[in-house]
Amino acid sequence: MAEANQDEDPRGPEWWASEDFWRKCAIFVTAGMAFVLVVLTYHTHTVILAGAEAGRVPAYSVINHRIGYAFDDDRNMMVPVIGPLAPLFGEELTEDEARALVDHGKLTVQGRNCMNCHTLLGNGAYYAPDLTKAWLDPGWGNEEARELLMTLFLKDPVANARTYGTNRRMPNQELSDEEVRAVIAYLKWMSAIDTNGFPSGFTVLPQGSLSTGSES
Ligand code: HEC
Repeated sequence: MAEANQDEDPRGPEWWASEDFWRKCAIFVTAGMAFVLVVLTYHTHTVILAGAEAGRVPAYSVINHRIGYAFDDDRNMMVPVIGPLAPLFGEELTEDEARALVDHGKLTVQGRNCMNCHTLLGNGAYYAPDLTKAWLDPGWGNEEARELLMTLFLKDPVANARTYGTNRRMPNQELSDEEVRAVIAYLKWMSAIDTNGFPSGFTVLPQGSLSTGSES
């Protein structure tokens, strides 16, 4: 028993074995970690904020640009390459307009619970293709056809099913024209987010040279 041991040792218990020492440790570690949590929360916020300089999430107006996807030798992973002007549906938007459109797309995706089947930015299901980089999916054929094919597919995914031999079909989500436009803007913006190469093993749409007018 502890008491018996204390009696045996004339110097008393070692300092590191005392209850008081461990109580102080617990208080200091909890307080220290609470502080670290606050600092990390602020730091994360500056990194994930759309358009933040240090961040990996581009401003919403990135949908006015061509989005490439290329292998980065230094980081040993695929990273988005923001290219020259290539406005979505040929219409250049201001930051506010782009934000409103991307927001609408995000709310549509959340409202229709697309995550029931799809994964976006690591959240969701794997019944259907991961949508994080869907804008860059080779299934759209080429960059010129993409906007039209995405619109047709989202308007009527049953008639325009692609299925890739999985036999899985996407049910018609009854999206309005405006919702389809917004979802496509949301997917284009998301494809420009630096996700550390996630999803891994993603094959990219044929893109040609990405160097022209690239900002990176
Ligand atoms: C019941 C399951 C289900 C739901 C819910 C669903 N999808 Fe799908 N989706 C699929 C399947 C299965 C495919 C693949 C079939 C195909 O391409 O014909 C697909 C394919 C897609 C693709 C093509 C992806 C690519 O890269 O090939 C897009 C884009 C898409 N869905 C968007 C959406 C959006 C937006 C919503 C919500 C409004 C949604 N889906 C809801 C099942 C679903």
